[in-house]
Amino acid sequence: MIGDWLDIGPVDQITPGTARTLPVLGGDEIAVFRTQANEFYALINKCPHKQGPLSQGIVHGNVVACPLHNWNISLKTGEALGEDKGCVPTIPLRVDAGRIYLLRSAVVGKRAA
Ligand code: FES
Repeated sequence: MIGDWLDIGPVDQITPGTARTLPVLGGDEIAVFRTQANEFYALINKCPHKQGPLSQGIVHGNVVACPLHNWNISLKTGEALGEDKGCVPTIPLRVDAGRIYLLRSAVVGKRAA
């Protein structure tokens, strides 16, 4: 059902290898990533280490390197890789007909919680 998904705009708004941010009223900002392989992921825009802005990190493969202390965070799972420990929440995302959708309950549901 399309009503369950929030349309956040065309895929072309994000250059491959970068992210854009999406403010959430009363909640944590979301970072939406596009990899060089044209895969899309959405995570809360806070590094599990010390809340660095992951959207400003360098994307390599399915991983973003945090701009603050260079932890590598999996875009798929939100988990810190290697010896670092921590996990940032991911937001279910789908792409349909050139537009990006986020699972509505994962975005606005947080407000009621
Ligand atoms: S805040 Fe991201 S690595 Fe330290």
